[in-house]
Amino acid sequence: MDNTITRILLDIEDMPRQYVNVIPYLKEPIPPPVNPASGEPLPPEALESIFVKECVRQEVSDRKRIDIPAEVREGLVRYGRPTPLQRAIGLERLLKTPAEIYYKREDVTPTGSHKVNTALAQAFYAKKEGIERLATETGAGQWGSAVALSCAHFDIEAMVYMVRVSYEQKRYRGALMRSYGARVVPSPSTLTEFGRKINTEHPNHPGTLGIAISEALEDTFAHANTKYTLGSVLNHVLLHQSIIGQETMAQLEKIDTFPDIIIGCVGGGSNFGGITIPFIADKKYRNTKIIAAEPTACPTLTKGEYCYDFGDTAGLTPKLKMHSLGADFTPPKIHAGGLRYHGVAPIISALLNQGRITARSFEQTDILAAGLLFARAEGIIPAPESAHAVKAAVDEAIRARESNEKKVIVFSLSGHGHFDMEAYAALMNGQLGEVPLVDGQMLIQPESMASMVEVKNV
Ligand SMILES: Cc1ncc(COP(=O)(O)O)c(C=O)c1O
Repeated sequence: MDNTITRILLDIEDMPRQYVNVIPYLKEPIPPPVNPASGEPLPPEALESIFVKECVRQEVSDRKRIDIPAEVREGLVRYGRPTPLQRAIGLERLLKTPAEIYYKREDVTPTGSHKVNTALAQAFYAKKEGIERLATETGAGQWGSAVALSCAHFDIEAMVYMVRVSYEQKRYRGALMRSYGARVVPSPSTLTEFGRKINTEHPNHPGTLGIAISEALEDTFAHANTKYTLGSVLNHVLLHQSIIGQETMAQLEKIDTFPDIIIGCVGGGSNFGGITIPFIADKKYRNTKIIAAEPTACPTLTKGEYCYDFGDTAGLTPKLKMHSLGADFTPPKIHAGGLRYHGVAPIISALLNQGRITARSFEQTDILAAGLLFARAEGIIPAPESAHAVKAAVDEAIRARESNEKKVIVFSLSGHGHFDMEAYAALMNGQLGEVPLVDGQMLIQPESMASMVEVKNV
């Protein structure tokens, strides 16, 4: 490809009009959610006390395509879609790789990640059904920010339980959510019975996504005209995110380029599902290698057991068949708060089980160092979650250099790291341990490390 074409854009009218549902394309159906008491499959209506009805309908739909409402498309355009696909020409040069590397820019939304794709849809369906308030949890705050923006967009109240360690690490995320009009509290909080119980038993508990989900569910049951909204894991969330992969496919086709490898980081699996689902649903891409990147600190896909487990810590959700580290697993306080989840989407679990995707796990210092390399090469500081995908892409590009293969590597830059600088500062200060070499290079000069401002140990 012509090396001057580094940004592949779509017109507004090229934005997808339908979501792609991967379920009809799976080799085997995914096992249904079950009632934890009886172990029996749960009728979809049972989920309607928790979720907006249209989301429940989509959760169990076997239709291959589902229309995107005009109001949602309008909002998505307003907030930056279609997003660019960018060629990482700087990174390719730095790595001296024959590989072509492309990244899908989900960082360009106002809240800084892909999360608004489903938040807008869920808020729209809620508004249409007369719901006045949405409750949710958030890890790093990207999801909470997207819910706050989407609720402001459709004039609904937003209540956000933010995992305490991330609330402290990413201080201005709370302020951003409040700017959109949301109410935000650190979780475990004092607002719910479950939060109070955890706070009494473990006064310094860092919080987990599982606990924050329990709090948001308890809140939903305790308030009139409130529904719970989830930013990952469930089928309808991955469905909404399929617009990422559809756009990516159209952009690659536009430059006549075929992906050998597609990479996404995985927390609950929505951005990974979003970029990969349209490719998985299309036989033409059956030989494209698909890699899920996760932290070694929370190795759900690489070490979790494929079993029925609760989605939250208090056991308020139905049980889902997924890879899980156990609903009471408390991951170390890594900065990639959005990847600190004990489980993962049943769709992603099934794809791993069926051998369609592979998973790799990475150390925090390695992904942050790869994030710095990316910033230096491309000018964009990735969210620590997205830096997992960057690291996997860098490894693949080095492998291509070593085997002298002209691979095409595509990854989802699911978010920017502007609210996550404490993570990079901690790396550069040496607070996270020895700073690793990236491709044999030391990215941080020892003298600049010594003169860095001190960052509180988090
Ligand atoms: C930037 C970013 N990427 C990825 C994730 C992981 O979530 P998911 O696996 O649902 O994409 C998060 C979660 O907060 C995130 O903020």
